[in-house]
Amino acid sequence: MRQKARALMPKAVQLSAYGGLEQLKIVDVAKPVPQAGEVVVRVVAAGTNPGEISIREGFLKAMYSMEFPFGQGSDFAGRVDSVGSGVTEFAPGDDVIGWSDQRSAQAEYVLIGAAQLIAKPPALDWFRAGSLKVVATTAVAAVRAVALKPGDTVAIVGAAGGVGSLAVQLARRTGARVIGIASNESAPFLRSVGVEPLAYGDGLAERLRAAAPNGLAAFIDLFGGGYVELAATLGVAPARINTIIDFAGAKKVGAKTDGGTAVPTRESLASVADAIAWGEIVMPLTAIYPFTMVHDAYTELARRKAHGKIVLALDPALKAPLRPAQSSGLP
Ligand SMILES: NC(=O)c1ccc[n+]([C@@H]2O[C@H](COP(=O)([O-])OP(=O)(O)OC[C@H]3O[C@@H](n4cnc5c(N)ncnc54)[C@H](OP(=O)(O)O)[C@@H]3O)[C@@H](O)[C@H]2O)c1
Repeated sequence: MRQKARALMPKAVQLSAYGGLEQLKIVDVAKPVPQAGEVVVRVVAAGTNPGEISIREGFLKAMYSMEFPFGQGSDFAGRVDSVGSGVTEFAPGDDVIGWSDQRSAQAEYVLIGAAQLIAKPPALDWFRAGSLKVVATTAVAAVRAVALKPGDTVAIVGAAGGVGSLAVQLARRTGARVIGIASNESAPFLRSVGVEPLAYGDGLAERLRAAAPNGLAAFIDLFGGGYVELAATLGVAPARINTIIDFAGAKKVGAKTDGGTAVPTRESLASVADAIAWGEIVMPLTAIYPFTMVHDAYTELARRKAHGKIVLALDPALKAPLRPAQSSGLP
């Protein structure tokens, strides 16, 4: 009898200490019950983000403290299971996109404030919806920070990654010319969305000068490790350089550091979700891992070669392929 009750318990990713992948466990947890203003969502897909690796390894303790056991993950999409009193915007059965500031998204059930959900556009597939919030808000913020206009040329580093693949397209929509700094493997995707690829590595400064002889109007760094200083050396005004990761470099040259929290979350998330749903921009997926393969998902993410998102699938009924076709993108 006891055994049967255990088998029915929902599962969640939990960490019991800072450390490597070995600390990531899928454990049984009690099904949450919504209180006033809260919603319980049955999660269908949950995203992975590189910052979660740094948090798990304990490098960001000051910013993201944990009392163990602790959950993981910000992004999710799923179906509303139950709502607490006072929730009028959502009802059981609604399909939603959400985000967890408590890092509890990688779980079969998430308990969340109703203000941290938006309706999922019906035409947006679960996997893109479930890995959208962090990259969408960050891409909107990074592009907005450098105030692009038609006629500008902007260079974007990390152009085909989770944030970059959206940011390059949002930048293109301003009418700017966009140079995407990335490896050769990323070049076909970048060209397909109207972005001019340029390889990183030795000689990048010269390649940028040749590609933009009249200079760059703006520079967006989505990778870190010295690109902000390169932008300043190339003569880009500090107010039009934005990095989402190199805070020390930004301080040195006076660049901006607008990330996901610099823009209104619901509005930015909804605008990007709609743009993807209507086919105005594309969101590549690198891989969809079953929830039980969370270690493999983070091993792949840590390689920093993702082109788009690496997503966890929590609904086995969807039978998602591990590597979805990028063209249709609808597993
Ligand atoms: N401040 C914020 O609000 C915020 C929010 C989200 C993320 N972040 C941070 O922003 C960064 C980007 O996040 P993400 O999710 O987009 O990461 P990601 O998807 O893991 O980025 C992968 C990309 O990095 C590129 N890359 C690898 N080596 C590179 C190099 N030496 N130079 C330039 N690009 C290189 C790869 O391009 P190729 O495959 O073409 O080599 C790949 O497309 C992370 O450090 C993350 O922690 C900050």
